[in-house]
Amino acid sequence: AVRQDPYRPHVHYTPAANWINDPNGLVYFGGQYHLFYQYNPYSSSHAHMHWGQAVSTDLVHWQERGVALTEGEHQIFSGSAVVDWKNSSGLGDGTSPFLVACYTGHTETHQAQYLASSQDRGETWTLHPDAVLDRGKQDFRDPKVFWHAPSAAWIMTVVHPIEREVELLRSADLHTWTSLSVFGPTGETGGIWEVPDLFPVLDDDGQEHWVLKVDLNPGGPYGGSGVQYWLGDFDGQRFTTRTPSRWVDHGQDFYAAITWHDLPERRVWLSWMSNWQYAHHVPTATEGWRGAMSLPREVGVSVDADGPILVQRPVPELQILRQTLRPLHLGVTSLQVDQAHEFLLNWSAAESFHVRLEFRSEAGIEVSVEVTPEEVVVRRPKTVVTAGLDGYAGEHRAPLPPLGAYDLHLFLDASSLEVFAGGGRAIITDLLFPAQPICEATCTIKGLDHGSFTGALWPLSQADF
Ligand code: FRU
Repeated sequence: AVRQDPYRPHVHYTPAANWINDPNGLVYFGGQYHLFYQYNPYSSSHAHMHWGQAVSTDLVHWQERGVALTEGEHQIFSGSAVVDWKNSSGLGDGTSPFLVACYTGHTETHQAQYLASSQDRGETWTLHPDAVLDRGKQDFRDPKVFWHAPSAAWIMTVVHPIEREVELLRSADLHTWTSLSVFGPTGETGGIWEVPDLFPVLDDDGQEHWVLKVDLNPGGPYGGSGVQYWLGDFDGQRFTTRTPSRWVDHGQDFYAAITWHDLPERRVWLSWMSNWQYAHHVPTATEGWRGAMSLPREVGVSVDADGPILVQRPVPELQILRQTLRPLHLGVTSLQVDQAHEFLLNWSAAESFHVRLEFRSEAGIEVSVEVTPEEVVVRRPKTVVTAGLDGYAGEHRAPLPPLGAYDLHLFLDASSLEVFAGGGRAIITDLLFPAQPICEATCTIKGLDHGSFTGALWPLSQADF
């Protein structure tokens, strides 16, 4: 189909219409990746929260399935989903594994955690009316449940937003929860805490590291919302950090990421690609939709000279979208591009170099990316379209550790830019709303020797959703 809407992503998930925010209930079951999300089926603003749903077999092509969990007495706020393999919740018939979702029921004055179950792989859901975790509080939300094999228990992380606390709890049956410990307040506390996740990853030597991530709003790196993480241990009881808090993403539009539960071999997450600072005002609602997900990313840990650090890479499945490769060369090259492109540059350098990509429309430079030995910088200027978006224009900087080998992996997709550099250590995710469609990329590569550089770009075919 011909796309009339210049901001609609080609390779990032967006529903056909209406408002979305956080991904919810990410779970892998029966060969399908489930993607639920905060969804308002009635309009392009944040109200009447339901869970919308999409499914995929490859993390690239998504099939939208409409509403999964419907608001009733309360709105259906964020949460998670697991496969109940052994009917530990008693909500199944005991013959086959099924999905259990744990979400926050929200009213103006009260938030508590509830269960929903599905016996048909997420197509239809039963909401169970009694709260499984209720402290009579106004702010208490975003349960992320996972199976912890070493202690043979379900573990939940859930936030007390105002107190800047992540509470950890244990359960045998998903109904009765016992408090284990509390993490926080610590690290970045300049805003309320939301959407925690706690999960293990292995480094290259096969050593396990636990990642605790929690979002905050405001108090992010540029004032709006942002995501921080710590690396450490989880002993079945409490999380102990070995690092200070760091930003997961140095751009402005990566929020509320959670990981897929029950995915063998690897950790994958994605996030809502927006910022509470201006999410209600981004100029896509004229087309009937507002909000998109980031690309799915593999999450790992690298142990560097100054300790462990989180690394994120786009999932390799995305490579099936690549069309004909066009090589990039040293010096200055201008290329015609259209809505969705992937760039991949690799080089080695001892001291100085300068790599710069500028994306232009007929109205001028819409966004640029610069890599120096110390950092990656994305510059997002104000456009006529974004004049009313508070905090939109700016420079977003991600530090690069001294590496010797450099890479820049970048996805430009209509109204977004995702930049991966430093072997997955320096990430910048930014929405962009060009005044005119981007039509040209100018690539300037200086200070490098032939032989130490390879570069390519691919137009990307449209993922059908
Ligand atoms: C995070 C968040 C969650 C909440 C949901 C409501 O973006 O505020 O804390 O559950 O969105 O839509």
